[in-house]
Parts: sequence; C-alpha cells; structure tokens
Amino acid sequence: MERTFIMLKPDAVQRGLVGQVIARFEAKGCKLVGMKLMKVDRALAEQHYAEHKGKAFFEPTVNYIMSSPVVATVWEGKSVVAIARELMGSTNPAGANPGTIRGAYGMDISRNVIHGSDSVSSADREIALYFKTEEILEYDKAGQEWLS
Ligand code: TYD
Ligand code: MG
Repeated sequence: MERTFIMLKPDAVQRGLVGQVIARFEAKGCKLVGMKLMKVDRALAEQHYAEHKGKAFFEPTVNYIMSSPVVATVWEGKSVVAIARELMGSTNPAGANPGTIRGAYGMDISRNVIHGSDSVSSADREIALYFKTEEILEYDKAGQEWLS
C-alpha cells in the first residue's frame, strides 16, 4: 500500500491547527500509520530540504522547520501521495484554493502550515529520514476495508 510523509510545520503547532489538519486526512479516508511530535535538528532539516540546497529560500526554510516542534506523520492509502498533495493545496497559500489546507489556513509561502511528499520515491526517502521501521504500525482499521 502506498504511503506518504506529512509534516505539520511549526506554524501549525504554534497556531493550534494540528487537530484540524489531521482531521482532514482522517475524513478523506487516509490511514494514519505513524505520528510523533518532535524537534527537527539542523542535519535532519538539511536532508529534508536537500533538493533545494543553493536556493535563496533554503536557509530560511531549514531554520524555520527547526524553530519549534513539528508533528511528523505517515499516512497510507491508494494514491495517498497525490491525494495528500490535493488536500494540501499549492505551495504558496496566497494562491491556494481556499478549500485546501494551505488555502484555508495560510497567508505566506514561508509559513505554509504543512509539508507533504511530492512523489512515491520522495515519500520513501522522507519516511526513512523521520521514522524507524518499527515506528510505522500495521493494523486493521475498522470499517475501512471497502476503501482498499
Ligand atoms: P517546494 O518543495 O517547492 O514546495 P512544497 O512544500 O509544496 O513541496 O518548497 C519547499 C518549501 O520551501 C515550501 O513549502 C516553502 C518553502 N519555499 C519558500 O519559502 N519560498 C519559495 O519560493 C519556495 C518555492 C518554497
Ligand atoms: Mg516539495
């Protein structure tokens, strides 16, 4: 089953949006298989955003995700990578559809509430950065059998 890595960024935790954001993934039907509140250190932040190294926003973005705790999550489901990107909305909240998470809760591209993997291979890489194998749980979710 496909998995994706979703991080509720420092602004989501600071603003008390964790429950509302998680609720959207649950309501959609995504299955929560990993979750932790954690601080991101520099080494992890730089690995997370490695593809953006050298860009003007790299340092500010790295500093930002280190600035306060984040909620790291893993979700499972058919096409969950693409589904999560749809739920999140476009990178810049100023132009994101207001029905999306970034469109509903964000104002600024550098404080855009949420991170989500952009492909299955990114998801595999990011999940491995943040979670040990044993921190991803396998379980049956009651009432959801018809979704898979
Ligand atoms: P990116 O991977 O392009 O966006 P997404 O999070 O939608 O996959 O960029 C990573 C993060 O870097 C983005 O969420 C916010 C920050 N960022 C900026 O601050 N300024 C920018 O111009 C861009 C493109 C990104
Ligand atoms: Mg990205």
